[in-house]
Amino acid sequence: METPGMSQQSNSQPPLALSTTEKASMASLAIAPLSLPPLPYADSALEPVISAKTLSFHHGKHHRTYVENTNKLIAGTELADLPLDQIVIVTAGRVDRANIFNNAAQAWNHSFYWRCLKPKGGGEPPTALKKKMEEVFGSVDACKKELANNAIAQFGSGWAWLVLEGSKLRVVKTANADSPLTQGLRPLLTIDVWEHAYYLDYQNKRADHVDAVIDKLANWDFAAENFARFAADRL
Ligand SMILES: [Fe+2]
Repeated sequence: METPGMSQQSNSQPPLALSTTEKASMASLAIAPLSLPPLPYADSALEPVISAKTLSFHHGKHHRTYVENTNKLIAGTELADLPLDQIVIVTAGRVDRANIFNNAAQAWNHSFYWRCLKPKGGGEPPTALKKKMEEVFGSVDACKKELANNAIAQFGSGWAWLVLEGSKLRVVKTANADSPLTQGLRPLLTIDVWEHAYYLDYQNKRADHVDAVIDKLANWDFAAENFARFAADRL
């Protein structure tokens, strides 16, 4: 299974034996050696919500470091030929693999995150996702509010996510590098609330950043593509 728009290289290696749930939750992003996927827009494309300076550091320094660290840590190990999402899943909860997990999960989370934003984003999701939001949360605005509340409430670094658990639409938050992939959840959209995502532009005003991202940058088309793909998997 491939996540729309994700950077992926060919893989001739046999897949790891995984449960149906694990396979279903995967969105293969890359095969080692992992590469830093380019941003799907210019550094300045998300201004004024996210400045070019923030975006260039976030992608070119932080994300790049997670990718490079992962490559160094998996070199010569049995993980070296696995897709990134599988590295995240098989190292989750392993104390002896915590450093690999943290870097690999952050590499995956950021690759996904860039696709969750777009210039002139926000607004109404496509119909199928909109109806699902209304069914579960009562309204699109209530769903967005739940996403914002989770992003703001996350203590310290982490992520807020719109996910599918089976056919149920949920909003969850994860700490540090943790990923819904390790919980059998299928991510549709995420917001990065590590300080490196907003501090240059908003300092301590995380809520202002989160609200602006949801109102002006959220890529509901990408979320809807993920929703449709996961729905198709259940047929
Ligand atoms: Fe980040």
